[in-house]
Amino acid sequence: MNDAAIHTEKITKRYGRVTAVDGVDITVEKKELFGLLGPNGAGKSTLIGLLSTMLRPTSGNAQVWGHDIRTDSTKVRKSIGVVFQDTTLDQKLTGRENLDLHGRLYGLPKKLRHRRIDEVLELVELSGRADEIVQKYSGGMMRRLEIARGLMHYPNVLFMDEPTLGLDPQTRNHIWDYIKELNREKNITIILTTHYMEEADRLCNRLAIVDHGKIITTGTPSELKSSLGGDILTLELATGKDATKLMEHYTAKSSTDRISASENTVQITTADGERAIPDVLKATSRLGLEIRSVSLHKPTLDDVFLHYTGKGIRDSDADTGKLKTLRWRIRAGK
Ligand SMILES: Nc1ncnc2c1ncn2[C@@H]1O[C@H](COP(=O)(O)OP(=O)(O)OP(=O)(O)O)[C@@H](O)[C@H]1O
Ligand SMILES: [Mg+2]
Repeated sequence: MNDAAIHTEKITKRYGRVTAVDGVDITVEKKELFGLLGPNGAGKSTLIGLLSTMLRPTSGNAQVWGHDIRTDSTKVRKSIGVVFQDTTLDQKLTGRENLDLHGRLYGLPKKLRHRRIDEVLELVELSGRADEIVQKYSGGMMRRLEIARGLMHYPNVLFMDEPTLGLDPQTRNHIWDYIKELNREKNITIILTTHYMEEADRLCNRLAIVDHGKIITTGTPSELKSSLGGDILTLELATGKDATKLMEHYTAKSSTDRISASENTVQITTADGERAIPDVLKATSRLGLEIRSVSLHKPTLDDVFLHYTGKGIRDSDADTGKLKTLRWRIRAGK
């Protein structure tokens, strides 16, 4: 039996020609707050589906809290709570009724169920609104109720699929506080998926970057950022031609710095950004290139993502699509 909270062995899920999860090997230790960071379609929800036994793997396997997802799914389910990406609350029931229904499904006896409902409602600060129907809740309140529901049966591991998708910054901060509290004070192991860099950075003690069903890299946020090897100097030039010229000049000159160009922007990753600026400016002036702007920043998870996958995560696009679906579902009472 594996002592980790989660251990996967080449877990794979195929849908016809699409490999949604592709030979993933991850280990999450007990009490970790572990993030799966990746763009739309990366396979994050599918991986959560496999680990929570909602989906069966095509090949490979996993243990959750020491239980085999293929042969011990009941034990796995008893050990976990899940907060799904799309709301699965019953809009016509009150908050309390939704929790009660969940407690019944898990076979919690009446007295314990009622006590637990009060506890989890208090934890997410919904005690005062518990007897209103969910349809009247704001997006943030629904999310909090879903978290409360995931906690009803005292899970050891809580899976949260995009816990703050589409919420305003204030509500998002609030939910981050709950997540941290659950992890630190209640000792719940948390696996969350997100495509928000800030969420991954602020919350997770370790994370895996996922793209096309594969784990690209794993580490703490600061390990991942420092793996890029320095500061990032971004120069916007007047034309794409100028950018190419600067890139050629710099590639020939420097063997240690990393340089990349896209359209009229050049990015140089260098150990000491402040010192590199004068040199680069001299070079552009010598080459007769026109600079529009210069900026210097410490690497962010965005840069890490760009470095490992060759593309950025476009938060706004992802949100608009998701929100539309969510709103539609809420309106349709689904
Ligand atoms: N039931 C299904 N049938 C066919 N293809 C599926 C199914 N579920 C997921 N996929 C495909 O598997 C891939 C991974 O999807 P998944 O929902 O796991 O991604 P995700 O990382 O959660 O994305 P998002 O950020 O949009 O939630 C996508 O290409 C998706 O179209
Ligand atoms: Mg998803």
